[in-house]
Amino acid sequence: GIKIATIGGGSSYTPELVEGFIKRYDELPVRELWLVDIEEGREKLEIVGNLAKRMVEKAGVPMEIHLTLDRRAALKDADFVTTQFRVGLLEARMKDERIPLKYGVIGQETNGPGGLFKALRTIPVILDIVKDIEELCPNAWLVNFTNPTGILTEAILRYTDFRKVVGLCNVPIHIHMNIAKGLGVEAERVHIDFMGLNHMVYGTKVLLDGEDVTSRVVSEFARPAESMTMQNIKAMDWNPDFIEALGAIPCPYHRYYYQTKVMLEEELEAAKKDGTRAEVVKKLEESLFELYKDPNLNIKPPQLEKRDGAYYSDAACRLISSLYNNKGDIQPVNTMNNGAIASIPDDCAVEVSAVITKDGPKPLTMGDLPVAVRGLVQQIKSFERVAAEAGVTGDYKTALLAMCINPLVGSDNLAKQILDEMLEAHKEHLPQF
Ligand code: NAD
Ligand code: G6P
Ligand code: MN
Ligand code: MN
Repeated sequence: GIKIATIGGGSSYTPELVEGFIKRYDELPVRELWLVDIEEGREKLEIVGNLAKRMVEKAGVPMEIHLTLDRRAALKDADFVTTQFRVGLLEARMKDERIPLKYGVIGQETNGPGGLFKALRTIPVILDIVKDIEELCPNAWLVNFTNPTGILTEAILRYTDFRKVVGLCNVPIHIHMNIAKGLGVEAERVHIDFMGLNHMVYGTKVLLDGEDVTSRVVSEFARPAESMTMQNIKAMDWNPDFIEALGAIPCPYHRYYYQTKVMLEEELEAAKKDGTRAEVVKKLEESLFELYKDPNLNIKPPQLEKRDGAYYSDAACRLISSLYNNKGDIQPVNTMNNGAIASIPDDCAVEVSAVITKDGPKPLTMGDLPVAVRGLVQQIKSFERVAAEAGVTGDYKTALLAMCINPLVGSDNLAKQILDEMLEAHKEHLPQF
């Protein structure tokens, strides 16, 4: 049987994951699931862990659920480690979203200054986890959901010798499912070439039963916002001429780059009205945990779909299953480029369609990015590399450089002001600075 350790086990997404393991028990016999959290998350861990126990009991699968604050005990001899933690919890996310807005800059947890600071807080923790894995379960795969997953994958690949890491995001699977829905066919009949970076990924080719339907999909389904966007990102149609000229399917996060002005206005308005996304999520989470407490609840409640966890568990479980069962199917993941995308260096983390076997992801050879997006992707890659270096070294000037070269900031003195305020606001979670 399989032992899984899930770090950040108190997450409201955990029932999603547990449901996925239950559904796939025959092909993926998870005998032990260890949910790990920290002191601040003890109560959430307790509530969500007890729900997980009821779910497993109701389903009648022999999966043991362990709840612990002892990460090392959870990691000992684990086969897979999944991570879904948030350093500084939603309080920190609120600062990531609010502080940049004061300076007229996008406030988002994985893009711009917010994404940089989420990376700076998380890198020391994830590198520590990698050290523990190397000691306690060196053969385990690390499946990292923790954001910003692209930068964290970059940091691990660049600054450690650990190679059994896969960064995962539910955006590509979301796009895939929506396109299949739009075409009115089963998802299995659709293949999409994904290439780019995390939250900066494009669908560059769509095949239906092997036939190229990219231009039809781009003009019919990529344009209307409703079919592509996610709960946390305001839906707005793309300009039809723009999207057809682009000839690829952008991801919802591209709105921050191609619709910057209007996204900023949206954010400012939302921040006044309902609060930033962190504040909205905080309320959602409180009501979710109230539901989770009900001793009669023994399934994943449908209300969880208000979070952006859609397909979260499908993405995680199908990846783990393909690693475990050596399936050789194609899934989009964050992994080392190794030549898959021309004009991105081999040793960089990219988000790309890859063949998944027991030896890990092997990216498909994609060729080059379309010229219209190549520069942006390379610029974000540069930002991610400098951000990762700042996270590892704690060097002030490197952090300033990262802030400044991010296209959502793009101004030296402004970058310094935002950096200084955010370093101060987050200092308890930035031991390296
Ligand atoms: P959350 O705020 O509920 O945090 C989850 C848990 O992590 C909390 O219970 C918290 O106590 C715990 N935690 C914090 N620091 C920890 C540490 N050092 N060790 C162990 N546990 C720790 O967050 P959430 O909304 O469930 O999201 C969790 C993470 O997953 C975030 O980083 C989020 O961005 C990410 N996420 C990623 C995807 C994706 O597509 N990659 C999808 C959903 C969420
Ligand atoms: C999507 C993204 C995740 C992100 C989440 C935010 O699922 O892929 O990376 O963490 O949205 O959702 P939330 O409900 O926390 O705003
Ligand atoms: Mn949460
Ligand atoms: Mn994501």
